[in-house]
Order: sequence, then structure tokens, then C-alpha cells
Amino acid sequence: MLPTPIKDILTWEPGGQSCLVGGWVRTFRSNRFIHLNDGSNLAGIQIVVDFEAFPAELLQGIAPGACLRIQGKLQPSTGRGQAMEIHAEQIELMGKAESDINAPDFYPLQPKAHSLEFLREIAHLRFRTQTFGAIFRIRHAMTFAIHRFFNDRGFFNIHSPILTASDAEGAGEMFRVTTLAADNPPKTEDGKVDFSKDFFGKQAHLTVSGQLEAELAALALSKVYTFGPTFRAENSNTTRHLAEFWMIEPEVAFADLNDNMDLAEANLKYVLQYALDHCYEDLVFLNERWKKEEEGKKKEERSELDLLERIQFVLNEPFARISYEEAIQILEESPHQKKKKFQYPVKGWGTDLQSEHERYLVEKVFKRPVILTNYPKEIKAFYMRLNEDGRSVRAMDILFPGIGEMVGGSQREERLDFLQQRMAEMGIPESELYWYLDTRKFGTVPHSGYGLGFERLLLFVTGMGNIRDVIPFPRFPKGIAF
Ligand code: 4AD
Ligand code: MG
Repeated sequence: MLPTPIKDILTWEPGGQSCLVGGWVRTFRSNRFIHLNDGSNLAGIQIVVDFEAFPAELLQGIAPGACLRIQGKLQPSTGRGQAMEIHAEQIELMGKAESDINAPDFYPLQPKAHSLEFLREIAHLRFRTQTFGAIFRIRHAMTFAIHRFFNDRGFFNIHSPILTASDAEGAGEMFRVTTLAADNPPKTEDGKVDFSKDFFGKQAHLTVSGQLEAELAALALSKVYTFGPTFRAENSNTTRHLAEFWMIEPEVAFADLNDNMDLAEANLKYVLQYALDHCYEDLVFLNERWKKEEEGKKKEERSELDLLERIQFVLNEPFARISYEEAIQILEESPHQKKKKFQYPVKGWGTDLQSEHERYLVEKVFKRPVILTNYPKEIKAFYMRLNEDGRSVRAMDILFPGIGEMVGGSQREERLDFLQQRMAEMGIPESELYWYLDTRKFGTVPHSGYGLGFERLLLFVTGMGNIRDVIPFPRFPKGIAF
């Protein structure tokens, strides 16, 4: 028989019912109280053991990290901190965990505070901590909420490929996929690696985005989205970049940039509300964590709102919507720029905004999420629709407090001749993207979409400071353990 999830048991009225639970020991106090957690919720449950009723050998095996299956009776608790507890009748020690610090196989997650850096080194075990249990329950809930949001609105989920022969952004920074021998690859006559001998008969990579494939599907199914892993080999060792991250990419036929912004704002608000409605216990726990972190910061760096207030605030306020041009003007005239406080000073039209600029706009000027639109074409991808001014494209980035860029999207260039011209200007050969151009030849239509970085969203919801802590097994430069 499978154990009953502790989360479900906690909804019962305690009155001596029999129950079977299974989970991992957090603590075992006074040879009497086991704090057992099965991951179904944050709190876990208290198990009360009458030590005279069990063999000493068994009791000795009950240590942090050990796995137990316990049959007992659910009773109201007289102790503080819980409404009910289980009085153990049968205890099975399923898996031991060594608690002797001098033993070679000592269980490293003893009940004390561990740094996130340390927990990252034991990412295979960190699921067992309260913090990571909370984070990964929230990650699940947000995944579900994303699918529900789009499903309820008549979108179809498309599985875009992970292996690709194209570079969607025209930007490089891809991971190569090959079966050629690294030490002695076949060569062509002019001494270059002969990729015609490779698995696919040509160069292949891991995808950086599912967008181009989503566009193909949108021009038939009208409303689609992808939600999958994407890979970027950029060497950015920051708290907001991963080499493998998950992205949500809707694509909508007939939608213009305004429709796109409306969808993205509704999308973000829906999933944030979902987190508040379904992950409250975990969010309250992470909020306490967040408040402690904030106390450790300098006064001027502290957030005015706590984690829950910040989520609520984003829900209540419409996002600010301004053009790139207005943003540049605001930044150039800002006291921050005048006092030379930006590491990269803003230098007029064409400046590629850095995260410090994005956060300044969001946190100091507008104090809410900001949607920036109509960027210079030079700093954006080839597929964005050119505006009548000939110099800007219908791009939109959504900037969030504490995060910077959360969403990047655009109205797409649906006019064949404009698209061909942009590709020529950017040196993208038509032969590589003939299939993409075909959609502009056959029944083209204005359409729009965006990419929402799932881990950036989780950073915002959980209040964690490092993106490596919201994905189970982070990949980053020189980091691919587990
Ligand atoms: O702005 P990006 O590069 O846009 C695209 O890839 C488009 N094809 C999306 C589209 O229009 N369908 O990436 C979109 C989002 C960013 O706003 C950011 O949230 C996230 O993906 N992102 C990353 N997240 C974690 N680590 C990285 N290295 C990321 N790069 C982008
Ligand atoms: Mg972007």
C-alpha cells in the first residue's frame, strides 16, 4: 500500500484514525518526536514515538535523512506548532542515513542552516531541504499554471525541436551537437572539419529558442505556444543566466504588438495569482527567508516591499508601457546618469540597455513592471517588424523589479521583401531559412509572440537571489555536475 500524502492527512479531523505515512526524517528529538517530511507540503508532520515500545536498534537508526514508513493513529496534538500528530504503532526503517560526523558516509544535511552555495554543491540532495522543497513545488505549480493559462485560451502546445540546424536569433552562442571524433574529425580538402560526415550530414546545434518553429505552427493553428528547454553557450556567469533554461514562447496569428503586450501581461498576472492561490504556505516560508536576507542588506538597498507584497503589487498595477526612445530620454536625464552612477552611461539612440538601466527604470522611475517597445533595429533580431520610421522595430521587452528582462518578444516581420532585406543586411543566408521564408510566401499574416524566461519568473516569485537555485540541476560555465 502506498503511504497517504502528509498534505492530505493534515486536512483530516484528528480522532484516532489509522494512517500510513512515508517520508524522510528532518529531526528526531528526545527519542520521542520525529519531524517527518514527504515533500507533499512544507510543514510535514510530527510523529510521536513511545520509545519503550520499539527496539533500541531501530530507534538508533532514526536520524536526519533516514527514510521511514510509519503506521499510526492520527491524534490532536497538545504541543505547540501543530494541530495534529501521528502516534506511531509500527515503524519501518526503509533507508538509513549516517549521522556520525566522523563517518565517511555522513549525511551532509543535518538540521542546521546551510549556505545556498554549499547546497548547490550537493544539488542531488538539496531537494530534501525546506527551501528547495518549497521552490520545486512552486516550480511545478507554475508549470501547470502556464499550461492552464494557454489551454484555457485555446492555444495549442507545440513541441519544438531541441536539435536544430538553424540559429533562431542569428546570434551564435550555440552548443554544437556532433558524433564526430573530437581528436580526429574527418577533414575536407581545404583542411576544415567535414560536417557532411557528421550524424546529420551538416552542422547541428542545441536550440536557443523554439520561436521560428512556433511561427510555422501559428500560421496554421492560429494560437500556439512552446514550453521547453533552450540552450545558450554565452559565457555570462551572472545570477540571471543559465546555459540551459526553460522558455515559454507563444505565437499568435493576426496579433499586433499591442495584442502581444496584453497577452504577456495577462500571462504573467495569471501565473502570479496562481502561485498566491496554490503555493501560499511555501511562499510565506520563502517570504520569511527573504525578510532575513533583506535585513542583512544596506538600508538603501533594501526592498520597500516584502516578497508577498511585491507579487501582490505587480498584480494590482497595470504595467507601464513606454517606447525605447522615451526610456533613453528618461535615463539620460536621470540624476543617476548625471552623478555618473551607471557603469555603462546611456549614450542616446542605439544604446543597448544593460540590466542596471532596466532595473533603474523599473525600481526607481516607474516602480512597477515596464514594457519597453520599439527598439532600434540594430540591437534586435532580424525577424522583428520594421516600423514606418525605418529605424525601429516592433519589439517589446518586459522588465521586472529585481530581475530586469523577464520577457522578450515582438511583432514579426510578415512582409517577404522586408524580411529578405533584413536577412541580407545581417548576413543570414536565405538558403538556411527557406522554410521560414515560405510562410511569408504562402498566406502570410501579421503575427506576434514572445519568450518568457521560466527561471526568471521563478526568481521573482520565490525571491531567490540566484537563478541557479530555481532549476533542479543548473548548467553554467564550468558547471555541469549531476
Ligand atoms: O530575449 P530572448 O533572447 O528572446 C528569444 O529567444 C525570442 N526568440 C523569444 C520569442 O520572441 N519567442 O529570450 C527570452 C527570455 C528573456 O527575456 C529571459 O527571460 C530569458 O528568455 N533568458 C534567459 N533566462 C535564463 N538564462 C539565460 N541565459 C537567458 N537568456 C534569455
Ligand atoms: Mg531579449
